[in-house]
Amino acid sequence: MASAPTTVTITGGGGQIGYALMFRIAAGDMLGPDRPVRLRLLEIPQGMKAAEGAALELQDCAFPQLVDVDVTDDPLTAFNGTHIAMLVGARPRTAGMERADLLAANAGIFGPQGKAIAAVADDDVRVVVVGNPANTNALIAAASAAPHVPADRFTALTRLDHNRAVGQLAEVLQVAPDDIDDVTIWGNHSASQFPDVSHATVRTGLVERMPVVEALAERLGGAAQVRTWLDDTFIPRVAKRGAEIIEVRGSSSVASAANAAIDHVRDEQLGTPHRSWTSAAVVSRGEYGVPAGLVSSFPVRSHGDGYEIVEGLDIDARARARIDASVAELIAERDAVTALGVL
Ligand code: NAD
Ligand code: LMR
Repeated sequence: MASAPTTVTITGGGGQIGYALMFRIAAGDMLGPDRPVRLRLLEIPQGMKAAEGAALELQDCAFPQLVDVDVTDDPLTAFNGTHIAMLVGARPRTAGMERADLLAANAGIFGPQGKAIAAVADDDVRVVVVGNPANTNALIAAASAAPHVPADRFTALTRLDHNRAVGQLAEVLQVAPDDIDDVTIWGNHSASQFPDVSHATVRTGLVERMPVVEALAERLGGAAQVRTWLDDTFIPRVAKRGAEIIEVRGSSSVASAANAAIDHVRDEQLGTPHRSWTSAAVVSRGEYGVPAGLVSSFPVRSHGDGYEIVEGLDIDARARARIDASVAELIAERDAVTALGVL
């Protein structure tokens, strides 16, 4: 017997990432081939036509799993009974806008959406924030949904950064991306993030693995070369990849962002048995010295019932300094929205 449909709400359903997301979700890429899906697309009035057009195209695909599609500009309708909320629509930074203005504009979106989720979403709702600044938008949404929705239901997307790091390593080591495991993104989805390979491993045989840093040393000619490559090439390349895409492509990442959001929700919902861990920004309870309440990226795993932080990894002094720098940025963002009276 077919299971009951899972309701997935996409905000910014008329935007670029929304468009890249919905067809793959409807095709079963996110929740598997057996779960019927009901899509709800939330837009602001200016975006309604684009979302409505996308809904027509979804109908024309005749996806077997897609039960129905609703398009609305009312958050209470969009989040009614939703199981998975993907908060993509956000206010982009425009010329002359200060960071505080950006945070304030997005607080005006993610605060009310958090409240609407608390009011009408399914009791077991999971929320992933994609719209930037994603970590702090998730913090605002979680605070606005409290105490009705537990804070650990809110996450922010750093899987794109994780996948970017894996892609860079696979290229330099001349292996398949799937051969790389145990990479971690720490901190904020911003240029301050820390892509950490100190625990990463690469497959060398049917079951054998070796540390990525050793494989890099073989390829680059020694430990000193690895240090230089990590500090001068790998870390800045991954951390600034979003800006590189904007420069080369002319607008920010779309398909790779949608792909990462699908990876994030799929692993959260179906589990990560095939991996030691992946990366996601989740609400800290003080793990690894990250102040409780911040939404920061960590190594995480799932047994199919939400992400949990993988604890107990060794953090050396270099890693500690990089994590602390990104966390300092998250603290500054939190303090800025607190000063605005949002938290
Ligand atoms: P886009 O401008 O194409 O689409 C955004 C859509 O959101 C627009 O259609 C807009 O009308 C809608 N929107 C705005 N306010 C809304 C609201 N209150 N409710 C519902 N919809 C609303 O942008 P995009 O390319 O789809 O990117 C969306 C966001 O994702 C941006 O903030 C971008 O910076 C961010 N992003 C994040 C990552 C990540 O890894 N976390 C990666 C890429 C992009
Ligand atoms: C990305 O990482 O590609 C985006 O977050 C960049 C951006 O500013 O939208």
